[in-house]
Amino acid sequence: MYRDRKFILFIFIISFFGCAHNVAEDSEQNCAETESFYVETIAPILSQNCVGCHSGESPSGDLRLDSFTSVRNSIESTLDRVNRDQGSAGFMPQGGSKLTEDQMTSLQVFFEMDCE
Ligand code: HEC
Repeated sequence: MYRDRKFILFIFIISFFGCAHNVAEDSEQNCAETESFYVETIAPILSQNCVGCHSGESPSGDLRLDSFTSVRNSIESTLDRVNRDQGSAGFMPQGGSKLTEDQMTSLQVFFEMDCE
């Protein structure tokens, strides 16, 4: 009986560490994909339409849109702003014209990609 319990504990520990390891690996892989999507697709959209105001020492709205981390952290409010009607309050790019459907879709895809 005593041996059985030890065995169960052993299995439990092994599977726990096995899982933890896989989770870490998955998240690393997801982040790599998300980051390359950022570099290839998202960064060009933002540098063309947003970075002029959202970068440097005192970025507009106190928001920088020139790094993976800052874009990742603000993707929800970015989607909100670019989806507003052109000319309405808070629309982005401010003073510019609405992003194309493709560009908006890319931002939405980026929002839905995994990477913690
Ligand atoms: C001409 C300058 C200019 C451009 C270009 C511009 N913005 Fe802005 N943005 C501002 C200003 C000024 C504010 C602060 C006022 C406000 O919140 O509307 C702001 C605010 C924001 C905010 C809210 C920040 C916060 O934390 O409340 C987001 C998100 C944003 N912009 C995203 C974008 C995106 C995405 C683009 C490109 C598609 C863009 N902006 C292009 C000037 C600009």
